[in-house]
Amino acid sequence: MTTPDPFAACPDRRSTGSEKWDRWRDRDVLPLWVADMDFAAPEVVLDAIRARVEHGVFGYTHDTPGFASALAEHLQRLHGWRIDPDCVVGTPGVVTGLALAARLFAAPDDGIITFTPVSPPFLTLPARAGRRCLPVPLVQEPDRWTIDWGALENAAAHAKQLWLCHPHNPTGTVFSRADLLRIADLAERHGITVVSDEIWSDLVLDDALGHVPFASLDHPAARQAITLTAPSKTWNLAGLACAAAILPTPAMKTRWRPAGGGLVPMVNPLGYAAAEAAWRHGDVWRRQLIHLLRGHRDLVSATVAGIPGLTCVPAQATYLSWIDCRGSGVADPQAACEAAGLGPSDGREFGTPGFIRLNNACPTDRLEEALRRLTRAFTA
Ligand SMILES: Cc1ncc(COP(=O)(O)O)c(C=O)c1O
Repeated sequence: MTTPDPFAACPDRRSTGSEKWDRWRDRDVLPLWVADMDFAAPEVVLDAIRARVEHGVFGYTHDTPGFASALAEHLQRLHGWRIDPDCVVGTPGVVTGLALAARLFAAPDDGIITFTPVSPPFLTLPARAGRRCLPVPLVQEPDRWTIDWGALENAAAHAKQLWLCHPHNPTGTVFSRADLLRIADLAERHGITVVSDEIWSDLVLDDALGHVPFASLDHPAARQAITLTAPSKTWNLAGLACAAAILPTPAMKTRWRPAGGGLVPMVNPLGYAAAEAAWRHGDVWRRQLIHLLRGHRDLVSATVAGIPGLTCVPAQATYLSWIDCRGSGVADPQAACEAAGLGPSDGREFGTPGFIRLNNACPTDRLEEALRRLTRAFTA
């Protein structure tokens, strides 16, 4: 018996309150922007949610007995990282975790380094917490985006925190052990706390690469680091609002949620059920997904290579393609795409005008249609 392909088709998300699909709800624009997938979550996760629904009581819920151990076993199995489950605390989102880290581990007006282009909350959250964002631009190389070490050193003199997006959204860079050790040395020298957002770490596309968790390094800066992660990107669970922070000590957990000043709710019970099931039982589906996403990345790269003026460094991780449109002569790439019936994310929101980000996590035939529209946007 052959296993059915879970990615051949997907539910219609219109009229479900989907942020992604509502944006152009009255127009023929294919939405390939915000980072969720159009696929249903795996059956093993749906079964766990159904079982939790059958229980019938949804009262205030703190971390469930299996939550931290499921994450610990997952991290050990996938990335060879042994954590202390007592250091794990459930958090209703990774972005929430960044906002809490800014308040807990930096003082008002302190600088927070971030590598740009980057996922928009990295740019906006520091100021919302009364801290300062210190952008350090990445360098575009033919095969990956890399760190400008001189610029990082200059910024470090003014920083108390560094927000790593690892793997990096939108460029898809997987930072190497050598990169991470160099960041760790710099953090130690300057007294900087590293906060590593590893929400994409289970979607490394190239088997040979692997993901090295920053806090797994044998380094003093790693022992002070905060890691944020979630099952939401990998198993498409963002709406269930369940993430985890891995803190340097169990004692810090008591200060974590209160740092939100009453604005941070508890995680919901269905989110816990889904997260635990995904980490424990979701690996077969995850590996099938990676196979699909690798093909989708290559399809986007091949199409982009055929459009004059566009370039795209192939992502090492994620389901995102970061496309440089500056050579196309099109003044507003986002507007040109929308006019051609395609809805990417606008590079301006990532701190870099002239780029667009395409989310390729949809059925292949939809992606092919999206790429026809991309071609039309820049060649019509
Ligand atoms: C790097 C990164 N961090 C955090 C998030 C959002 O996380 P959450 O929905 O858990 O707040 C995203 C979503 O795309 C992301 O790309």
